[in-house]
Amino acid sequence: MNQIYEEIQELKREHNAVILAHYYVPEEVQKCADYIGDSFYLSKIATTLDASTIVFAGVTFMGESAKILNPEKNVLLPMPEADCSMAHMASAAKIKEMREKYEDLAVVCYINSTAELKSLSDICVTSANAVKIVKSLPNHNIYFIPDGNLGSYVAEQVPEKNVIPGEGYCYVHKEVTKESIEAVKKLHPEAEVLVHPECRAEILAVSDFIGSTSAIINYATESPKKEFIIGTENGVFYKLKEANPDKSFYPVAGGQTCASMKEVTLERVRDCLKNHTGEVFVDSKVQEACLIPLARMLEAGK
Ligand code: 13P
Ligand code: SF4
Repeated sequence: MNQIYEEIQELKREHNAVILAHYYVPEEVQKCADYIGDSFYLSKIATTLDASTIVFAGVTFMGESAKILNPEKNVLLPMPEADCSMAHMASAAKIKEMREKYEDLAVVCYINSTAELKSLSDICVTSANAVKIVKSLPNHNIYFIPDGNLGSYVAEQVPEKNVIPGEGYCYVHKEVTKESIEAVKKLHPEAEVLVHPECRAEILAVSDFIGSTSAIINYATESPKKEFIIGTENGVFYKLKEANPDKSFYPVAGGQTCASMKEVTLERVRDCLKNHTGEVFVDSKVQEACLIPLARMLEAGK
């Protein structure tokens, strides 16, 4: 195992590369990363790096966003086929229809989306800043794509606006059920329930805290409580435990696994650097169109 970490370090030096990893990739990949974080943190950090190559240990839309924000850099995806199914769950035709229906419409696009959807949107958001950004918009009518659960959560948090959620969903978070949370709660009655806003409304309703992966980790780390039930993807347990060795964290119903994130292996990180594979290319017109909503997000999310 140590040998592959050494190889990766050597390849990083050779190619002037830096490794970014999302909290959902396997623990051993997070261990080799220079920066680990949620989608917002990683997009922000990607714009501040001196390295000429960014290896993005995450799914397709993450590498694509990093490339859009840094067109002059080489962005490599260790597993380019590792896609987020939710990223495709909205359509150009529906966006057009909504723009015709509401004159003042703002199309707010969750970063978990294809470049095409971003290019048709007014501003991007992540789970860390969606509420704050929607609140700050001058528009009354908001079409929130693609995640219907995050969209409904934002609608509830910003009742002064007409937030119309899209119909997409994350299959990983959709699997979390009320019954499974209640079953873990029965075993650990003192535990607080921390969930991601991609979970369904009935899950958010029975939780003690709702936040992005970073927000969940920060909340647990700062809390005086000792036990937590975690309603998000299993990958967060690595940081949760590392930062809180004296606390206990329980998954729901055996835990949630994003199959695409788990395809990003240590070997694939090494191989993309070694063979310069998985390079992300974004058409220059699409890149320019996507840069606007992404840059607005970085500005508004500050
Ligand atoms: P965050 O990184 O915003 O917590 O979102 C989780 C997710 O589903 C990423 O794919
Ligand atoms: Fe997409 Fe869900 Fe996987 Fe995140 S956890 S990448 S939203 S499928």
